[in-house]
Amino acid sequence: MPVPLTVLGIESSCDDTAAAVVRHGPKGAAILSNVVMDQSALHEAFGGVVPEIAARAHAEKLDHAVEAALSAAGLGLRDLDAIAVTAGPGLIGGVLSGVMLARGLAVATGLPLLGINHLAGHALTPRLTDGLAFPYLMLLVSGGHCQFLLVEGVDAFTRLGGTIDDAPGEAFDKVARLLSLPQPGGPAVEAEAASGNPTRFPLPRPLLDRAGCDLSFSGLKTAVLRARDGVVAEHAGLRRGDRADLCASFQAAVTEVLAEKCRRALERYMALNPSDPVLAVAGGVAANRPLRAALEAVAKDAGARFTAPPLALCTDNAAMIAWAGIERLRAGLPVDGDFVARPRWPLDTSSPALIGAGRKGAKA
Ligand code: KG4
Ligand code: ZN
Repeated sequence: MPVPLTVLGIESSCDDTAAAVVRHGPKGAAILSNVVMDQSALHEAFGGVVPEIAARAHAEKLDHAVEAALSAAGLGLRDLDAIAVTAGPGLIGGVLSGVMLARGLAVATGLPLLGINHLAGHALTPRLTDGLAFPYLMLLVSGGHCQFLLVEGVDAFTRLGGTIDDAPGEAFDKVARLLSLPQPGGPAVEAEAASGNPTRFPLPRPLLDRAGCDLSFSGLKTAVLRARDGVVAEHAGLRRGDRADLCASFQAAVTEVLAEKCRRALERYMALNPSDPVLAVAGGVAANRPLRAALEAVAKDAGARFTAPPLALCTDNAAMIAWAGIERLRAGLPVDGDFVARPRWPLDTSSPALIGAGRKGAKA
């Protein structure tokens, strides 16, 4: 295997058209470029990502993203050692756009082509940013996903639990909509919650009484709806303090269940006796300060370090796809360019996510 190893990554599984070049050499890894072309303006009027619009935009933008990534890295196609592309899970039209472009480039250049699981990209990112050693515990908590992963190797993931319905980011976004706060809902709800009373509304703590690490957020969102309607009926509308109290009560419920399930996941992880125990978090919801503080405290109590990649590498990007390709090449895993694009692709096939878990057509 060549040293250094330089890989082009391509990502198009939701509404970000992304390309990046990552190099791994004797001194470690370096992101040479990381281009993300955001499509959110195209979808804004529809209240969510429209798969057909996303696929078309990817098809139009992908080659520009690749050109921009190569040019920012100061490289040409002949300087690469391989191409890595997201092969799933995600919106199939977008995934196919990326896979077709990557396959075309691989055929034209003769470079090896790797089909990467998008979730593996997220899960392996702390090794790119912090050089973490296996095994570590990863909590992926975003607008489309919520799962605890035991990461034991480049291709060895055990899903300890996750949401059986909505993802937390999705719940934050819906609560924001219920309270007429702007999207994305997470930052708006967090800001509003800062001046609220987290104990005013006794919202449920879903699945807390059930053993294990599974979570549920859809009932919580409905409970916020009922609490809001109760206040509206009583006061003929929402006052500012009501909104802040609803946000604070909701955020406290999400934080409490995630922290408790995280404590249980850590217990299982710590039983492996890792030499340098680490809890890593990724995904947009990990930006929530009270949640982050609660997770940090849980990790500390368990005797584990807490880490989170910088936000630009926590959310969707192609550097994580290039990195996952490098990891696979360095681990000597077989390279088979003959893969298919997959809308669903659980990382851990022995305990796959429940069908319907997480927002449909959402980012992973
Ligand atoms: O990982 P990400 O950028 O992509 C998706 O999965 O879509 O996560 C976006 C999600 C949104 O639902 C957003 O409301 C949520 O992350 N989010 C937050 C915060 N910042 C972003 N949720 C709670 N608190 C925040 N501060
Ligand atoms: Zn993702």
